[in-house]
Amino acid sequence: MKITASADSVGQHATPALALGLFEANEWAPTGPLADLNRAMADEIRAVMAEGDFRAKKNETLVLYTQGRLPARRIILVGLGKAEDLSPNGIRQAAATAATKARDLGLSELSVLLLGHDRDGIGSDKAAEAIAEGAILGSYVFRELKTEDNGVRPAIEKLVIVAPEAPSLSEIEASIRVGHVIAESTAVARDLINRPANIATPSHIVAAAQDIAEGTGLACHVLDKAKMASLGMHLLLSVNQGGNEPAQMVILEHNADRTDLPCIALVGKGITFDTGGISLKPAQGMEAMKGDMGGAAAVLGAMRAVALLGLPLRVVGLTPLTENMPDAQATRPGDVVRSLKGLTVEVISTDAEGRMILADALTYAGKYQPDAIFDIATLTGSRIIALGDHAAAVMGDDQLIKRLTTAGETTGERVWPLPLFEAYGEQLKSEVADLRNVGGREAGSITGGFFLSRFVPENTPWVHIDIAGLSLTEKATPYAPKGGTGFGVRLFVEMLRRWKANE
Ligand code: BES
Ligand code: MN
Ligand code: ZN
Repeated sequence: MKITASADSVGQHATPALALGLFEANEWAPTGPLADLNRAMADEIRAVMAEGDFRAKKNETLVLYTQGRLPARRIILVGLGKAEDLSPNGIRQAAATAATKARDLGLSELSVLLLGHDRDGIGSDKAAEAIAEGAILGSYVFRELKTEDNGVRPAIEKLVIVAPEAPSLSEIEASIRVGHVIAESTAVARDLINRPANIATPSHIVAAAQDIAEGTGLACHVLDKAKMASLGMHLLLSVNQGGNEPAQMVILEHNADRTDLPCIALVGKGITFDTGGISLKPAQGMEAMKGDMGGAAAVLGAMRAVALLGLPLRVVGLTPLTENMPDAQATRPGDVVRSLKGLTVEVISTDAEGRMILADALTYAGKYQPDAIFDIATLTGSRIIALGDHAAAVMGDDQLIKRLTTAGETTGERVWPLPLFEAYGEQLKSEVADLRNVGGREAGSITGGFFLSRFVPENTPWVHIDIAGLSLTEKATPYAPKGGTGFGVRLFVEMLRRWKANE
């Protein structure tokens, strides 16, 4: 989607459709450009509000036809809800709603009116960023595997942000670019998640990471099975044993040579399909396990954005990649495997595979001596039971959790903490090895996090983010259709953009 800025007045701006965000109001008393627009429309906007035909509830829309009264052919009214509740997320949703409305009308072009340079504490730069981001996110569809037209119209190709009151158009243009990069990076993650496991194999994801590196200047290294074996990453390799696709680990690096900058490592679970292994999952719904690499997708998407935005940090993205398949060669329940860290693990369930591959990747991340490590993973069904659709579970360092919490408030990817009390460690005690890989049904998300904590490099602040059920969903939201959401990409990018300011 091509997105540009324009300083046209509403009286000048020619477009097939001009979207206009409006707040709920008892008595609508427009000023400035809105008043001009309403006057040109012979008071029709006020009339539809007064009649209650358009109440400006969140994401409500109404199309008005200007019939030659303005150079814009249509006006798409979009509800923003109550003025006092407006957030960047509300703007993103409204922009997504407008973009999909324009698409459904069969238009390929849309303009959005951006008013006020500091309305409700959201500057015009942040608003422009949110409009660009929301329009792209909301227009996302995964169609690459459809050979027949299924009636879904293609997304709009062109979006113009009309900002007659903005102090500087070039500032708006810079913000548009940021929103564009972040949304496109989320789309990269969504594509990887939506692709089925026969396409999105570990090698496919490696190739995608190499493409990202090529397009952004990120450094890219790949560890193959032989390398992992020589290093001693047997937890990762034990998960790979049952499948035909060789395990790999991708490492993307931003500002690789800048040891003067804070270094942050992002580790993403990349199980390209989780059958459960010998601890086989039930057949019902198993197809959703193509999304078990959502953590890896989030890391790759975030790395792309970090590079394109040129953030002043050193960031390392690590994605351990493998399928989890049952087979004669597969790891058995009861097998004991030695980790890169040296700790031995009794595999009670081969379905607790995410923590196995992450454990070795977390230890490996220590090589970069990071100032902070975040891992992100579709780790436990218990996360879904505990928090449902509206928050990822986070565990670990309080300071880092605060950073994620703040970032998530802005992006709408909210996180909520769970404790890692030492007492939970009891559940992971093994008779035969240093620890077992599952701790029973109770506190399932916590024991998953606790297991990981044992493999984090010494003295390194770390947080585990459990996104099971959030990364691939059955429920559409205004700016994410059903399927891969890319949860985590925008969360990481927002947190990293604020990194210095929060220190
Ligand atoms: N990939 C699953 C977790 C999951 C469940 C992700 C639902 C997305 C939606 C993970 O590997 C898994 O199987 N976890 C087990 C852990 C158990 C064996 C301790 C679970 O949650 O049941
Ligand atoms: Mn599993
Ligand atoms: Zn899994």
